[in-house]
Amino acid sequence: MTEQLPSKVDMEKIVSLCRRRGFIFPSSEIYGGLSSCWDYGPLGVELKRNIKEAWWRAVVQERDDIVGMDTSILMHPHIWAASGHLESFADPLVECKNCHLRWRVDELQGNNCPSCGGELTEPRMFNLMFKTFMGPVEEEANVVYLRPETAQGMFVNFQNVLNTTRKRLPFGIAQIGKTFRNEITTGNFIFRSREFEQMEIEFFVKPGTDEEWFNYWLQERLNWYLKLGIKKENLQLRQHTKGELAHYARACDDIDYLFPMGWSELEGIANRGDFDLVQHAKYSGKSLDYFDEETKEHFIPYIIEPSAGVDRSALAFLCDAYAEEPDKEEIRVLLHLHPSLAPIKIAVLPLSRRENLVKLAKEVYADLRRHWMVGYDDAQSIGRRYRRQDEIGTPFCVTIDFQSLEDEQVTIRDRDTMNQIRLPIAELKGTLQAKLEGESLFVLPPGGKIWKEEKSG
Ligand code: GAP
Repeated sequence: MTEQLPSKVDMEKIVSLCRRRGFIFPSSEIYGGLSSCWDYGPLGVELKRNIKEAWWRAVVQERDDIVGMDTSILMHPHIWAASGHLESFADPLVECKNCHLRWRVDELQGNNCPSCGGELTEPRMFNLMFKTFMGPVEEEANVVYLRPETAQGMFVNFQNVLNTTRKRLPFGIAQIGKTFRNEITTGNFIFRSREFEQMEIEFFVKPGTDEEWFNYWLQERLNWYLKLGIKKENLQLRQHTKGELAHYARACDDIDYLFPMGWSELEGIANRGDFDLVQHAKYSGKSLDYFDEETKEHFIPYIIEPSAGVDRSALAFLCDAYAEEPDKEEIRVLLHLHPSLAPIKIAVLPLSRRENLVKLAKEVYADLRRHWMVGYDDAQSIGRRYRRQDEIGTPFCVTIDFQSLEDEQVTIRDRDTMNQIRLPIAELKGTLQAKLEGESLFVLPPGGKIWKEEKSG
């Protein structure tokens, strides 16, 4: 067990910001909520879309050895027998004989109920898959399950992908999708919920090369988080002990993040060996082996699986980006989100609601919106508007003032440094594009000038 160091970020502050600014709401809130289910609001849905987009770009678009899929959530029930989920995807559970609350045995500190101190029952295995029925008759023969991982959809399509893409080993299949687990202990906001999204890669390799590929994917996935701005000191690799390994895994390392409640799993990278393809070949009666044209051998590939959670990633990116800075008498709250993850890239702020100024601001707003998610705010002082954008992580504000009407120039203000530059409207799109891609704010376009924002309340 890793030492539980206190994180610098308070979970309550993250939950409150998410609620207040429309990132994340409790599901079914007007009915009192539904335990461990969450709704992503206007900003949350953009953050999630951006995380998924960044992942897809890194693992599918920019590589020539991985293809994407989108498989169904409901699958043939034999899949869960073959995968071992019917038998092994279960947690040992005890019930309090007094208050009837249920607890996971592996999370209990003592021998009695943590809530009332009552006596506990003997452990019983509790399967985490959600069950439902296919068709109108609710009988055992019609039972289907909501998938507890996206992985199986890719394993059972291994031959389809091989035959239609003509990919050769090593190659992978990637998928993003909803996953359901009837978790016993939930909590810590979106960290562990009952409905969540996964981003999974199943990377098929020749046996014998699996360790090399396992190490490759550990580094590759760690670098993905680092490139998107997660601080190095908040990430660590943790090797699973033999006793901890899932039933399918030969080896597994977690990428842990220092969440507010301590170091916890952000992503798992497993060496699944040939377990899945062997099992599906056995249960389906279809061959899932691979013919190596160079060596003329038939064999079952091994699988390396980097498996990440979209929701856990969102929580990690939010926690890592959260900062509070003194600002005169007040505190400036900001999210240092990487520009590619920020829900809103640019906010257009007219200095006043005067008709001629609004007309120009709306033109700029309409033009920029063709390229990015852009906000528009004309309420209250310009200082307050900057702070509102800082709090949701908007990297750039474009301010339009009376001078703009005469010289056709506007101001760009940078979230992190609060530096400002003034530049011709004609240069705006190209400059923002360059800045969103990480170019220095000090590279000025023709006719531009630079200064620093006065701190304000
Ligand atoms: N196919 C392998 C697999 O599903 P896992 O470690 O059970 O492995 C992979 O899950 C990732 O899915 C985790 O690292 C985490 O990011 C996410 N995840 C798992 N259970 C979750 C839950 N109840 N709520 C939110 N995310 C979860």
